[in-house]
Amino acid sequence: MKKISLTGIKPTGDLHIGNYFGAIRPALELAKEYDARYFIADYHALNTMKKPEELNSTIRHVAAGWLASGLDPEKVIFYRQSSIPETFELTTMLMAFTSKGLMNRAHAYKAAVQENSEKGDDTDAGVNMGLFTYPVLMAADIIIFDSDVVPVGKDQVQHIEMAQDIAQSVNANYGKQVLKIPQAAVQESVAVVPGLDGRKMSKSYGNTIPLFAPEKTLHKTIMRIVTNSQSLEEPKDPDTCQIFQLYKLFTQAEEQDALAKRYRAGGMGWGEAKEELFRVVNRTIAPIKEQYDAIMADIPALDKILEQGAQKARPIAAATVNRFRKAAGID
Ligand code: ADP
Ligand code: TRP
Repeated sequence: MKKISLTGIKPTGDLHIGNYFGAIRPALELAKEYDARYFIADYHALNTMKKPEELNSTIRHVAAGWLASGLDPEKVIFYRQSSIPETFELTTMLMAFTSKGLMNRAHAYKAAVQENSEKGDDTDAGVNMGLFTYPVLMAADIIIFDSDVVPVGKDQVQHIEMAQDIAQSVNANYGKQVLKIPQAAVQESVAVVPGLDGRKMSKSYGNTIPLFAPEKTLHKTIMRIVTNSQSLEEPKDPDTCQIFQLYKLFTQAEEQDALAKRYRAGGMGWGEAKEELFRVVNRTIAPIKEQYDAIMADIPALDKILEQGAQKARPIAAATVNRFRKAAGID
């Protein structure tokens, strides 16, 4: 039997190039050798997104983004988290095996507490129980499909370790393997994609290159990349330049060598380097964007794909919940 790969993306904003190279592409690579189950973590997004129109549209945006990037819903079980009610039943059961102390140690919660205490606010100000118990819901997402590997970025590794801890407490209590222990699959080769200002590209920093912007906006955004004040004539170092780092994601060795040569020779200004970058970015993402636009033009068809995915997923989820209920004496 093939092993199972599972991951989710929270629909909290516009997809960007960091999401594409850091999450979507590696997950689609894994789907070639694993039985893949990929989903839209819409209840996780609800913790921070309280505007219904916005959440509704980012759910479709992220779903269309996966499909446009090449996810084949015939091969990958593709669904919305909110369509699998068994996940929330499992969450409740897992709560009974999750110590509060474990949640106190979760990075996102700790960061919120620290920010509050620095401001002199109540330490739990603005923290809802969705944020506090986030790792339990995520553990349920993973465990419910008997996942073997979970492709994620480094920031999510702690959550996978918590899912392991929780599943192990369940198994230890019943003296047998009721739940499968998942492993994180961090793609070391996927470097952190730099943003416009050189920091990690992230919507929280407002430094992103969106994946599905119109061509004009894409051009304008790339032109905003922050550079140093080296003059046009000066030779430049490609290895310390985020324009070149981004260029490498979209090109092979031949084009990379050619641009690196122009950097080192001098006589090429930053504007020109950005134009080169725009050309290769647009070349790669234009066909993906075309797919995306076509998918977004027929939302009922998109919703049907997600619904069909949920129908395939639910019996698998129900089997895990039943196994656990039986082990627990609730059958
Ligand atoms: P953001 O930082 O913009 O809020 P998310 O945290 O929603 O992005 O990330 C969704 C997925 O995309 C995660 O798997 C994350 O590791 C990956 N990802 C996000 N930004 C980058 C980046 N700059 N480089 C590589 N991977 C990234
Ligand atoms: N927490 C993940 C993120 O912020 C999204 C997510 C929710 C997830 N449930 C998951 C990822 C299960 C992997 C597996 O990126």
